[in-house]
Amino acid sequence: MVLAVGNPHRALRNRLGNLSVSMLNLLASDSKPRHVHSALNVLISRVVVGLFSASLFLFFLSGLRSGYSPSAHRLAPITRGDADSAIAQQLKSDLSAEDYPLHMVSESQPFKMSGSAANAGDSQSSLVEARSDREVTVAPNIDSDEEPVARMIVITMDREESLVRLLDSLVKANYGEDHVDLDIWIDRANDKPIHEGVLHACQKVIWKQGTKTVHKRAANAGLYQQWIYTWNITSETTEFAVILEDDLEVSPAFYQWLRVARAAYAQDSDVGAFTLQRSTLRPRGASRPLDIPAEHPVFKYRLLGTWGFAPQRDTWVEFRKWFEEKRARGEKPYVDGLITTQWYKSQEKDGFAPNMWSQWWIKFADEKGYFTVTGHLPDGTSLASNWRESGLHYSKNKPSADFPVFRGGDDEFIMPDNPILVDWDGQIISAKDSGSS
Ligand SMILES: *[C@@H]1O[C@H](CO)[C@@H](O)[C@H](O)[C@H]1NC(C)=O
Repeated sequence: MVLAVGNPHRALRNRLGNLSVSMLNLLASDSKPRHVHSALNVLISRVVVGLFSASLFLFFLSGLRSGYSPSAHRLAPITRGDADSAIAQQLKSDLSAEDYPLHMVSESQPFKMSGSAANAGDSQSSLVEARSDREVTVAPNIDSDEEPVARMIVITMDREESLVRLLDSLVKANYGEDHVDLDIWIDRANDKPIHEGVLHACQKVIWKQGTKTVHKRAANAGLYQQWIYTWNITSETTEFAVILEDDLEVSPAFYQWLRVARAAYAQDSDVGAFTLQRSTLRPRGASRPLDIPAEHPVFKYRLLGTWGFAPQRDTWVEFRKWFEEKRARGEKPYVDGLITTQWYKSQEKDGFAPNMWSQWWIKFADEKGYFTVTGHLPDGTSLASNWRESGLHYSKNKPSADFPVFRGGDDEFIMPDNPILVDWDGQIISAKDSGSS
């Protein structure tokens, strides 16, 4: 399988010249040789270091474009100095439309603890933000009092076309006989109403597996709220949930994969979550993409995959509590040596990175030793593809999926007894220590 990393977009390649020059200047002005060299030696070593760093940087950048959550991790490695702000400026104008989910980076208040959330000590009270209207539709054959087996949580705002693609793929997926509810959370900017087309697309969906609920935010919620506080877990909750951003398309078999994977690993004490994402990022030693040998159809990865994220119920409750406590104490989710920590730092505003909730999970997983069960589907396919959406500035470029969705049969999923554990640096830790429930 060929990773898109080796094939950067044309726009990226075109920027290479300018970027290299800027990076060289930046690095040359930063480097401080300890010994006295001839001017020529210094110049040569600076150029070599500069070129190497610039290519590493470009590699990261292209890796991000294809390999990791669009909701967060762009532009990150550059933060200091004047030369740097020039680069940032250039990157912003070139990359933002294609790479950032524009509707989500605008939030001014990334996370506001609601009164109920702040005081919720017991598991009885709901942490889910109530400031939204709801439209509820129950499928005719469904008993709405019955606990669903699963819940699909779609978070969206104003990308109508993307949302339609995702909803369409969700409708077409195979759920067997399961009662599965669909929740769609529509965020909004504070100065704008709910996006009409998005609302309409939600209303049009005919959801046969269970209850469809369209939540219309009364005010801007932001990415943290949309992610962390949309799964309404009460003491009775037995369902599992998958959280999906609107630029994804799921495989028709994604649900069956989850069922099989959950049956195999949900009891393992080291499993914090499942993901539909085909992971390519190695957050430590990130100069090469993740390379899992083909004989492993599934692995437990330290890194989460945010594209189709399915946290375990109890772990999600634990995570929220942990997150709130850390936040209250003003702690930071830094994990030494991870590229994602650098991205988080470069996004920090008032100590908070407005679109990187995932770094909190990374810190949490690092501290508690949780892994995310990650599929490694054949032929470079994925259970959830990301359609790196073009924005207005890129209307000529057709959006394309990072990996094609898996269209094979449900019966092909093999879940080994002892899946490999993969560390932050992409190295296999061990296949024996897993399954330690
Ligand atoms: C959360 O669950 C409780 C109990 O089932 C329910 O009363 C409440 O309406 C739910 N809230 C949302 C936002 O779905």
